[in-house]
Amino acid sequence: MCGIFAYLNYCVPRTRKEIFETLVKGLQRLEYRGYDSAGIAVDGDKNTMTDDINNNIVLIKKKGKVKALNEELYKKDCMDLEAELDTHFGMAHTRWATHGEPSALNSHPHRSDKNNEFVVIHNGIITNYKELKKYLNSKGYEFESETDTEVIPKLIKYVYDNREREDLSFSTLVERVIQQLEGAFALMFKSRYFPGEAVATRRGSPLLIGVRSKDELPTEHIPIQYNTAMFKEGVKEKNSHNRSDNSTAVNSVGDSKAVEYYFASDASAIIEHTNKVIYLEDDDIAAVVGGKLSLHRLNRLAGEDPVRAIQTLQMELQEIMKGNFEAFMQKEIFEQPESVFNTMRGRICFDTNKVILGGLKDHLKEIKRCRRLIMIGCGTSFHAAVATRQILEELTELPVMVELASDFLDRNTPVFRDDVCFYISQSGETADTLMALRYCKEKGALTVGITNTVGSSISRDTDCGVHINAGPEIGVASTKAYTSQFAALIMFGLMMSEDRISLQARRLEIINGLRILPELIKKVLTLDKKIKSIADELYEQKSLLVMGRGFNYATCLEGALKIKEITYMHSEGILAGELKHGPLALIDKHMPVIMIMMRDACYTKCQNALQQVTARSGRPIILCCQDDPEVSKNAYKTIELPQTVDCLQGILSVIPLQLLSFHLAVLRGYDVDCPRNLAKSVTVE
Ligand code: G6P
Repeated sequence: MCGIFAYLNYCVPRTRKEIFETLVKGLQRLEYRGYDSAGIAVDGDKNTMTDDINNNIVLIKKKGKVKALNEELYKKDCMDLEAELDTHFGMAHTRWATHGEPSALNSHPHRSDKNNEFVVIHNGIITNYKELKKYLNSKGYEFESETDTEVIPKLIKYVYDNREREDLSFSTLVERVIQQLEGAFALMFKSRYFPGEAVATRRGSPLLIGVRSKDELPTEHIPIQYNTAMFKEGVKEKNSHNRSDNSTAVNSVGDSKAVEYYFASDASAIIEHTNKVIYLEDDDIAAVVGGKLSLHRLNRLAGEDPVRAIQTLQMELQEIMKGNFEAFMQKEIFEQPESVFNTMRGRICFDTNKVILGGLKDHLKEIKRCRRLIMIGCGTSFHAAVATRQILEELTELPVMVELASDFLDRNTPVFRDDVCFYISQSGETADTLMALRYCKEKGALTVGITNTVGSSISRDTDCGVHINAGPEIGVASTKAYTSQFAALIMFGLMMSEDRISLQARRLEIINGLRILPELIKKVLTLDKKIKSIADELYEQKSLLVMGRGFNYATCLEGALKIKEITYMHSEGILAGELKHGPLALIDKHMPVIMIMMRDACYTKCQNALQQVTARSGRPIILCCQDDPEVSKNAYKTIELPQTVDCLQGILSVIPLQLLSFHLAVLRGYDVDCPRNLAKSVTVE
């Protein structure tokens, strides 16, 4: 929800055009986070100065996607694009509206005043903005937007204007501002009073800094300590979920030599420039002054500056490029043979039938002693919990609750010290899930993260966890993260049941199923043409029902969510057992129905539902196992899938629905990767 990107070149000459290109490309990488408006702040030409302060700041903001902003940038004929700027700091933002409609005025950067003395970009939400606004209004500060963010530049100007004779540094001003803020934020500040300087800070929203220096990282400034602990301050390596320890601890970087810094909401915007990054922690304040980056803590005591790790990103640029696919979502659907394989890689030994999740092994005893598992997530990640609940109950012999994070919090659900709470999240930043994590931590439960994003808040704030290793997911509609979350949770069940003699046959069956799963996924993907032809028939429909039960119920929920998200058709996932209790009233010969009928324990019951549908002239499209004459004779159309172990079947059955929603959206003329009103990472409650 909102993407932040900023670029500081220190003693590295860049033309203004190059700077624009860097900022725009950074935003494009983050566009999945929000795309209703965008803006940048850069230094203006010296000869356009209107008053006695050097370095006037130019804001360029535009409603719409980053492409629209890009076009706008080159319309500014007052700016010399070929001008070479030796040292410069530019900030850029792509927005997903929370306060105030999408418009140029409401988009970021926001400013302190008409002279752009301080400008700010923000990801998150300021919950006490009304009080702050009232106060600032009373002091004569005028607001121009409807956003919560605008209080921040006004507040910093207020602190600056009232500094009396104190000589305050830029980072101290920021520190005083964030002391007053409540809510969640990642913030970048730029000021005409501090040319060539940048200040970044965060609380609850992600922010990382990429560092690129000609001499690699200047060692004379770095080695405060080299060790295996990721962070000083008590946050140890265990919290990084088995992250490879290729890090160096620092609290300042850079010297007077040439250096470039990239600030971003996530690594995908940084990787093409450098793979050396520092993840900021809540209440860290990072400041670049004279080319040198230093880190401070809010309200720090003397001598308490933080040490953060410079990590080496393992991501490849190619992973975040679309390649030959029409959309990221399509690419990500087709990546699933590899992404599911990568989730299992190095974790399942098919010779010994052992499963080892490195990020959980030290906590396994504790988990086995717990009295229940609580799986918490939102959207697709919640569906991964629904999909695996039954097999986890079977393999762990523990009660498993599945919870939507927002509802879990609304209910003030009782949680105890002997509960183990799982937080499933592709991004690792979803606000509702993070709030649920904080809630359970307070209750003393053991917390486990299942995330796809190394360095994310959930992977750092949980006691232990699993990185699903699906690779970056850019399309807003989650696909490969779902199947990898699914596989990771199954592996957790297998790890828990290793010493249960009565479960060995079942474990073996599942492990053998996982071994050939990537091959079966490939087979399902060959159905793409057939699914496209079904989409050709359905794309003008208003509604689409998806029905199934047992191990495939989650597929119905997830398939319907995909259809809603990107095709804007009404779609509902219906538990086949509930059909007769209401949804049957929707069935007639016009209502498209997709049914999932795999050969598992629910097969006969699904046949009853099929009869109920066909008896009302319904014309079901049925996802079934290959060569099932019983189904074929009652179906309007079939999509035949390879059969696997019942509890893994959902990984295969969801793929045709991912493909169907993709084709429907393309046929309906929508932007598959950026559906209206949605954002990939929802960092507000
Ligand atoms: C947003 C996205 C969904 C996603 C959900 C949870 O709503 O649009 O696709 O499933 O957030 O995201 P997470 O990153 O926590 O898995």
